[in-house]
Amino acid sequence: MTERLPSEREALKILRDVGCSEKVIDHCRAVADLAVEIAKRCVKNGLKVNMDLVKIGGLLHDIGRSRTHTVNHAIEGSKIAKKLNLPSVIVKVIERHVGGGIPIEEAKSLGWPPKDYTPQSIEEKIITYADKLIEGSRRIKIERTIKAFEEKLGKNHPAIQRLKDLHKEMESYISGL
Ligand SMILES: [Fe+2]
Repeated sequence: MTERLPSEREALKILRDVGCSEKVIDHCRAVADLAVEIAKRCVKNGLKVNMDLVKIGGLLHDIGRSRTHTVNHAIEGSKIAKKLNLPSVIVKVIERHVGGGIPIEEAKSLGWPPKDYTPQSIEEKIITYADKLIEGSRRIKIERTIKAFEEKLGKNHPAIQRLKDLHKEMESYISGL
């Protein structure tokens, strides 16, 4: 597996080639742009962030939406990315970006290969978080996403706490975004 990241142009071509709609591509661009903005704030606050990975990972995070719009787009996306020989860092972004990430027990109940699918690296967290702040290609407040999760999953679903935890952690890096 190559570890060379695709360029921005190559990433957009990949999205088109696998059959992502223009709507999905617009969303991916918006997430990538916001993720870079967040990453810059993190760097200002002294964190080390791979900007290229944030940008390209942001662009490719929803590649699986060429196959399905269910939660499975993460696992489907990782399959596509592996087939295309994309770097493992990109595969991880794709499979760990849903909600605030999916822990092993929930992954099992979704029928995914059993492992932890929660974002680990700072780049994975930034992209996952930026994705929760973009609806379509428009910037929204995290409260809106939390509310949407509550309506979809029920107030007590553990995914809601994970999202709140991610928000809290990211706020501590970027204060005031
Ligand atoms: Fe997604």
